[in-house]
Amino acid sequence: IPVEPFDLVVFGGTGDLAQRKIIPGLYRRFWAGQIPADSVIIGAARSGMDDDGYRALARAAIDEFVTADKRDVAVIDAFLATLGYVAIDAKGTGGWDALKGRVRKNVVQAFYFSVAPSLFGDIAERLHAHDIAGPNSRIVVEKPFGRDLASAQALNGVLAKHFNEAQIYRIDHYLGKETVQNLMAVRFANMLFEPLWKAEYIDHVQITVAETVSVDGRGAYYDKSGAMRDMVQNHMMQLLCLIAMEPPYHFDPDAVRDEKLKVIRALDPVKPEDIVRGQYLAGDGQGGYLAHAENKDSKTESYIALKVNISNWRWKGTPFYLRTGKHLRARTSEIAITFRAPPHSIFDDADGWRENVLVIRLQPNEGMNLMVMIKEPGPGGMRLTQVPLDMSFAEALGEEGADIPDAYERLIMDVIRGNQTLFMRGDEVEAAWRWTDPIIQGWEARGDKPKGYDAGSSGPEDALMLMHRDGRRWREIRE
Ligand code: BG6
Repeated sequence: IPVEPFDLVVFGGTGDLAQRKIIPGLYRRFWAGQIPADSVIIGAARSGMDDDGYRALARAAIDEFVTADKRDVAVIDAFLATLGYVAIDAKGTGGWDALKGRVRKNVVQAFYFSVAPSLFGDIAERLHAHDIAGPNSRIVVEKPFGRDLASAQALNGVLAKHFNEAQIYRIDHYLGKETVQNLMAVRFANMLFEPLWKAEYIDHVQITVAETVSVDGRGAYYDKSGAMRDMVQNHMMQLLCLIAMEPPYHFDPDAVRDEKLKVIRALDPVKPEDIVRGQYLAGDGQGGYLAHAENKDSKTESYIALKVNISNWRWKGTPFYLRTGKHLRARTSEIAITFRAPPHSIFDDADGWRENVLVIRLQPNEGMNLMVMIKEPGPGGMRLTQVPLDMSFAEALGEEGADIPDAYERLIMDVIRGNQTLFMRGDEVEAAWRWTDPIIQGWEARGDKPKGYDAGSSGPEDALMLMHRDGRRWREIRE
């Protein structure tokens, strides 16, 4: 369904995110007929450039990041006609009145802050001082949303001076992933899983986000962040919340976010012995983390595994094991839910028995896999074997399943539609930092050094122990 014509201003409009995600995403929605041609999309950044210069930059971004089947010369030209550019001085006065002349007051108006968080306050203030934004404007902000509780509170405070919570869209792009949204559909639209979705029946949950990329090229940012801040505080926390939350009364922004917040608040502090941090070593002709980070003494983790306990009625006694890392053997994100043993076995084949596991593959090869026990075929008596009930979303849904929109496309359209369900509320972000801070402070106080792991491996050996000592094991990291 197309949206009403809108105005969107992208601050940082010439940046990496704008070129890789925002512009190609907007183009694909335009191609799909969802964006009316009388919408106005303005790039705003420091460099001096005119509309045509910006259109050329956008055309190059589309050529590079949109697949050929969606690149149509006439459609690209029509899309580029909605684009314009204003050179702006975020900390001064230059460009703001020009920007005011380019946007309309009587349509949905969104301002995308694809800039360093240190500029959020300056931009928010100028949008009001120059009478550009109004009570119905929306703003979109990117992660990192702070680097600890204090800085996140400061950012929330700065934004709250000029915009109310209903106007603020904090992006966590994992929430825009089709399969992540599917977690809610699987849980709350089926009778099959939810009655079993509790400590009584679930032994443990594993959440894995493994990446093959290194931090080469973005070491300066990454080294100040590390896997805990870069992935766990936000993306993995969101996945954990969607798995662990109570059913919201309705699929409504605040109902969903209230339930996620309750999960974050119920997280126990994590003990140092329940965390393994790792840093990849040089190998395969590639530099190690220390070469990429430039700081030869860096103690930043490029890998982390941790055991998280949720102290609430539903989950007490069922640990959630989380792991994420760079430069691992495969790019794969999945959630595996391992069920408990039946209360009593009527079969003698104790060796053949395995737990039921529900695996939800988030990327790549999005799908679900339920491991179930059946009788081994043949005359050999009642022997048991485990088989997968495997479903690939692409195969099950045909063309529709193969053509899944990118997370940013979905999220930008939600901003225009005014739907905040898939965006983080201020209190949620703060609660996540409140849990994260003491963990990081503990490392700093102890001078904790991450363990080395081979590039292309499954992470540090010690991470295996985290589960072995509980009589459990990680699933293999593979595509
Ligand atoms: C970003 C992190 O938020 O998410 C990156 O900053 C990470 O370090 C990326 O690589 C992963 O996103 P995706 O969509 O590729 O899983």
